[in-house]
Amino acid sequence: MFLLSHIYIVLALQLGGVFGVALRPYESLAGLTREEVDAFARSVKVVGGQPVPPAIKDTSSKLVNDKAHPWFPLAPGQQRGPCPGLNTLASHGYLPRSGVASPGQIVTAVQEGFNMAWDLATLVTYGAFLVDGNPLTNLMSIGSTSRLTGPAPPKPALVSGLSTHGTFEGDASMTRSDAFLGDNHSFNETLFDQLVQISKEVGGGKYNVSAAAEVRFQRFQDSVARNPTFNFANPRFATAFVETIFPLAFFIDGRDKSLALDLDVMRGFFKDSRMPHDFHRREGAFEGGGDEFDIIQSSHNYFPGFNNGTVNNFVPDPNFLGTQTEEICALYEKFVNTTMELYPNPQGALRKALNVNLDNFFIPVSSGCTQLHPFP
Ligand code: HEM
Repeated sequence: MFLLSHIYIVLALQLGGVFGVALRPYESLAGLTREEVDAFARSVKVVGGQPVPPAIKDTSSKLVNDKAHPWFPLAPGQQRGPCPGLNTLASHGYLPRSGVASPGQIVTAVQEGFNMAWDLATLVTYGAFLVDGNPLTNLMSIGSTSRLTGPAPPKPALVSGLSTHGTFEGDASMTRSDAFLGDNHSFNETLFDQLVQISKEVGGGKYNVSAAAEVRFQRFQDSVARNPTFNFANPRFATAFVETIFPLAFFIDGRDKSLALDLDVMRGFFKDSRMPHDFHRREGAFEGGGDEFDIIQSSHNYFPGFNNGTVNNFVPDPNFLGTQTEEICALYEKFVNTTMELYPNPQGALRKALNVNLDNFFIPVSSGCTQLHPFP
């Protein structure tokens, strides 16, 4: 915390004269000129892209809310964002409690704390890091603007961090508002109450697959009806469904095989970033997808698309390909394309770091997709 503040002050002094704003060491460099990137690089310890840490060996269920990882309430300056999984890992010390972490720390923490499979962890983390992280310092915020984040860099650069709308963070989240309609990263009590209501109606008082399917549909319909900018095209089309399964996959105690999540436990994760007392992570690594994904996605007549500038005007995304493998490759391609848009002509250490992270991002999809090389 002290270190970050200190670095920030030094950067503010050194960069202020270059482009009139200060960058935090974990802020994105997208949209900056070569001179600005070079000035930034001279002011920080350039870590650059690093290899993905290895998969954990022991994926058995075990106590994870343990003595070494106590929950602490949020201290001033610490950041949390739209992801209850990462928020919880930070509040239990599996990730730095500041909410600022390297992609390697995230890959290891989601495995240790929740038993997310290495492949899935690598895909999600490096996808997010490419579009929301700082490639030179190798740091990313799991939140966004806060006292710690400081002033935004000039457009078209991003404030960055996971709360940045339209990069990874998207519409129709279960417990966070659409960015167009309000706060897209904080827990929203009204939305959670709706989730509770649906779980009572179709889930027998718990969040199960039936409740997940109806929550997903209700949030979809709400965005169609109220958000003229609603975007449900890839990658959001894939992530929106996966995220409704995550509570079932990760927030149910590993000793409980019911596939039904207690709503108070769910609130603890989503609202307070807190594991329940004696919480054991799931048994075996979770790879993503699976039967639950198919059940939820096929429970209503979905297709990827967006509202065409007005509400209740949902049109298909012409780039949609079809099968689930193609959906994953489409997701991969979308993140690579967004990286290219953010960094049209990267040079030097920045280009090198982006290429390492693009390679890391490709590893989990390498058996089914074709690698793109935007910066040969
Ligand atoms: C591996 C690294 C991860 C990254 C980079 C990440 C990032 C994100 C982001 C950006 C969102 C916001 C998407 C949106 O709704 O607009 C999100 C949502 C979510 N994440 Fe994560 N996540 C990660 C791992 C996890 C893990 C391990 C869990 C569970 C233990 C988790 C659970 C969730 C859930 C349930 C949501 C949906 C929240 C809602 O719709 O209200 N995530 N994540």
